[in-house]
Amino acid sequence: MERVEKFLKDAGTYYLATVDGDQPRVRPFGTAHVFEGKLYIQTGKVKDVSKQIHANPKVEICACTGADWLRVEGTLVEDDRREAKQSMLDAYPSLQGMYSADDDNTEVFYFQDATATFSSFTKEPEVIKL
Ligand SMILES: Cc1cc2nc3c(=O)[nH]c(=O)nc-3n(C[C@H](O)[C@H](O)[C@H](O)COP(=O)(O)O)c2cc1C
Repeated sequence: MERVEKFLKDAGTYYLATVDGDQPRVRPFGTAHVFEGKLYIQTGKVKDVSKQIHANPKVEICACTGADWLRVEGTLVEDDRREAKQSMLDAYPSLQGMYSADDDNTEVFYFQDATATFSSFTKEPEVIKL
């Protein structure tokens, strides 16, 4: 789990793919935070990405650093607890200008039934169940 979080933080940006009917959607994301042993991401309820996750929580993310890339596929589960949101905002102080744990917009999701695959041009893929 920590290895996945570190890879995502080192990459800085990853790309989050959702399903919108029969249309894939992808956008850059940056939030990745381990809380209570689970990998969380953060978004805002007003965004299309949030609506897509609620309609179909199966997602995949992809990040790369140099010749290595990581994909995480799984199902996102919303965690509505204040402490989960606050932990994310504490990990990303830059978000605190736009989001707060008590607004009606901030939401955090954790990965459930997730599989992380570390890939490289030079090594065999390594698959880890989260
Ligand atoms: C480097 C980078 C990181 C981002 N990280 C996040 C993030 O962690 N959460 C988020 O909700 N939006 C993040 N965004 C903004 C989303 O990409 C943007 O709001 C996007 O339009 C959301 O997707 P949607 O239009 O399908 O709703 C980030 C943007 C960039 C450029």
